[in-house]
Amino acid sequence: MSEQTTAHGAQPEHPGRTALITGASRGIGLATARRLAQESDISTIILVSRSAEDLDQAVGQLSEEGDGSTRFVPCVLDVGDRSALKRSAKRLFDEVGPIQLLVNNAGYTNPVPLQQVTMPDFERTMEVNLYAPFLLVKTLLNRGNVFDLIVNVASTAGVTGRSGWLTYSASKSALITMSEVMREELSIYGTRVACISPGRTATALRRVLAPDEDPSTIMQPEHVAEVIGALTSPVGAYIDSENIIVRQ
Ligand SMILES: NC(=O)c1ccc[n+]([C@@H]2O[C@H](COP(=O)([O-])OP(=O)(O)OC[C@H]3O[C@@H](n4cnc5c(N)ncnc54)[C@H](OP(=O)(O)O)[C@@H]3O)[C@@H](O)[C@H]2O)c1
Repeated sequence: MSEQTTAHGAQPEHPGRTALITGASRGIGLATARRLAQESDISTIILVSRSAEDLDQAVGQLSEEGDGSTRFVPCVLDVGDRSALKRSAKRLFDEVGPIQLLVNNAGYTNPVPLQQVTMPDFERTMEVNLYAPFLLVKTLLNRGNVFDLIVNVASTAGVTGRSGWLTYSASKSALITMSEVMREELSIYGTRVACISPGRTATALRRVLAPDEDPSTIMQPEHVAEVIGALTSPVGAYIDSENIIVRQ
């Protein structure tokens, strides 16, 4: 899997904070990038996904919608590829600079009955949903990065296990607990760690989980992005960040 980074948009005269969002080419991640671009103190947003084409499209849209004050940096990366993730994190830190806001949002699911779960697929689920957020944080910390805020996107399926979603529920449940540990360990650096658990949200991933559902009847990605936006704003410091449930 190739890893590319190209900056789009103006370099602000007074650089503000940098945000990195994984899974930012569509769904909740793209809506979050759009929301964070409205925060005046965020001047650079790094968008991660596997598809260069989708990322270019997302960056094109965001650049058109904005006033040119935010720099968008696409990064083509499979977060489930450990070596590529470590290389990209180091390169982004060296080339783009410190990352103050990290949104671990990329997710994977392949819902099947328990008897049909394969170990490679279980491992892939854990790589993307659990190990990637851990490794991204660890690699950047060891590079000297100091985060203001880390937001891990879990799921209500990680709070209550769902029939047919064994691997997904297990990975999200572990992400919720891992966030609590990160929150305690990183508080000495002034880093806040929040975990959010959205319920049903109209995205491509939701279509995999519930193919027959009418997307207009459930929460939209923008609603989840608003909550992430609130966490990054000054008022976010007053939000108790222990697994925030976001649902209709
Ligand atoms: N939608 C819901 O109902 C719901 C509910 C609770 C929690 N969530 C969580 O919300 C997060 C976002 O999901 P979504 O619903 O917005 O899904 P989505 O619309 O399918 O978007 C997923 C994003 O992640 C990227 N991605 C997937 N695998 C990746 C990988 N291995 N490496 C890098 N990027 C990857 C996708 O781009 P590429 O495919 O091009 O890589 C895409 O940009 C996930 O963690 C999901 O578990 C969703």
